[in-house]
Amino acid sequence: MTATTRPSAVAAEPQAIPGLPRDFRWGVATSSYQIEGAVAEDGRSPSIWDTFCRVPGAVVNGENGDVACDHYHRYTEDVDLIAGLGVDAYRFSLAWPRIQPGGSGPVNARGIAFYDRLVDTLLDRGITPWVTLYHWDLPQELEDAGGWPARDTALRFADYADLAHDALGDRVVHWTTLNEPWCSAMLGYDQGLHAPGRKDFGAAMHAVHHLLLGHGLAARRLRAKGGVDLDLGITLNMGHAVPASDSEADLAATRRADGLAARVYLDPLVRGHYPEDVVEHLASRGVTLPVQDGDLAAISTPLDVLGVNYYSSHRFAGTAEDGSTTDADGQPVVRAVPFGRPVTAMDWEIVPEGLTALLVRLHEEYGLPLVVTENGAAFDDVAEADGTVHDADRTAYFAEHLRAVGAAREAGADVRGYFAWSLFDNFEWAYGYDKRFGIVRVDYDTQRRTVKDSGAWYRDTVRLTRGR
Ligand code: NOJ
Repeated sequence: MTATTRPSAVAAEPQAIPGLPRDFRWGVATSSYQIEGAVAEDGRSPSIWDTFCRVPGAVVNGENGDVACDHYHRYTEDVDLIAGLGVDAYRFSLAWPRIQPGGSGPVNARGIAFYDRLVDTLLDRGITPWVTLYHWDLPQELEDAGGWPARDTALRFADYADLAHDALGDRVVHWTTLNEPWCSAMLGYDQGLHAPGRKDFGAAMHAVHHLLLGHGLAARRLRAKGGVDLDLGITLNMGHAVPASDSEADLAATRRADGLAARVYLDPLVRGHYPEDVVEHLASRGVTLPVQDGDLAAISTPLDVLGVNYYSSHRFAGTAEDGSTTDADGQPVVRAVPFGRPVTAMDWEIVPEGLTALLVRLHEEYGLPLVVTENGAAFDDVAEADGTVHDADRTAYFAEHLRAVGAAREAGADVRGYFAWSLFDNFEWAYGYDKRFGIVRVDYDTQRRTVKDSGAWYRDTVRLTRGR
């Protein structure tokens, strides 16, 4: 059971964050399907999320991204909002089905024109665009042809990356290939909680390899044409995995959990091979990764930065509550055990020191420069009549996690930036619009945006930390 106590609601005063340098990069983040709306405009084709949202029971309240924050029509106002927050970077994603409807063929001029305008508007306001190529909106046609479990999707992704870079690479330096491939593969193809809603562990592990291959092939193409300025990365979601005790069983369970959550991505990306214990674990479940000659060389194309999305951490035990060490399939038990901490509205435990530990571990074991590409929290906001939100709980979350980033830097981790998730309330996938992560409130009836107290706090904290 997860703890149900609410976090401290005492708002932290804005102050310079110890350990973060003047040239630290500060940003806010969003993604295409979560904010754009305009799903049938200017030649965009349906994505797997348009389809999934129509499946009864798939999304809370049967909601979808048809309108979302209407950002497609309001991007100028939204860029003003970002500028008002005083951040220097904006992380957003490109919708593949806008740029290359159906996932193959030439660029859709009307689709790419939107991002052209967005990038120019950002640059005019002195905000650095930080582009993600894939944040989960796979063209439906590619899913119909097999989706990420099929090798061809990786090849299609590299072509799409090429088109996007041809159009924007003269102005965009920071490119992230994939956002959270674990979610695409495991939530989408194993647990069935995200689009396309499949439940097949073997298919999900094939998706893992093809997502990584797509990343690698795209990375190569971008490297080949990117010039000296290109800043190339991938974003992974991770927590800090801790054993529930120092018993052998709990240590083994933690290693197994970390294998499928983190090392199965990190090792091929940075070291050019899959971890042996993960390969053995998969074999024991009858799964072989569909690796072909040359795949790992592509996947380990050098990266400039590793993006880290952090929300929470977990402890693991190797015994079930009844004391057994194997499950019904004869597999070793891996059981998440709560820390007993306060939780956010997602029921995710608040574990800021896990972020410090994770960043230090990534630095020590993988050595790449790091950027926190997402961190933030959903809480049950109460809006005043004028739209203001006194979200002391969210402010406290940001304050604690930013201090955790500063502590990681002081411990030697090369962390170069931080993006708050999210710029505004938006479509939270299977949770629909119920869960609000924004530092800016969106009133979905009027599309009015109002900076929350946490947004004002973030703005002041950025200014104070920069100004030291
Ligand atoms: C990570 C995902 O990248 C983002 O799309 C999502 O909204 C946040 N986590 C919060 O769940």
